[in-house]
Amino acid sequence: MEWKTICDTSEVGTGKSKEFEISGKKILVSNMDGKFYAIDALCSHMGGELGKGKIEGKDVICPKHHAKFDVTTGKVDKNINGFVKAITRKDAKDLSSYEVKEEEGKLSINI
Ligand code: FES
Repeated sequence: MEWKTICDTSEVGTGKSKEFEISGKKILVSNMDGKFYAIDALCSHMGGELGKGKIEGKDVICPKHHAKFDVTTGKVDKNINGFVKAITRKDAKDLSSYEVKEEEGKLSINI
């Protein structure tokens, strides 16, 4: 693991997420009330691009089949019903999350 500087803090607005490619990995960086978080940006079900997903509270919704992941932890939400329930119960796994630090207006990720 090593710290990599990725962007200015102002690039990820409050309540928003943005995808970055770091060391060949796609990472989703989110700003929740001024605190920054990083998780894998590819859905563990079939690789949906979470950078194109909708943010709902602390969750990002996969644009492909609508699995939900907590952007602060990477955990998949298993408490949803209907068609998505079958996917998230069986196939979608928790995503990796990464430490983020903020220094002099820049964000770095331990990856
Ligand atoms: S690819 Fe994300 S829910 Fe299927």
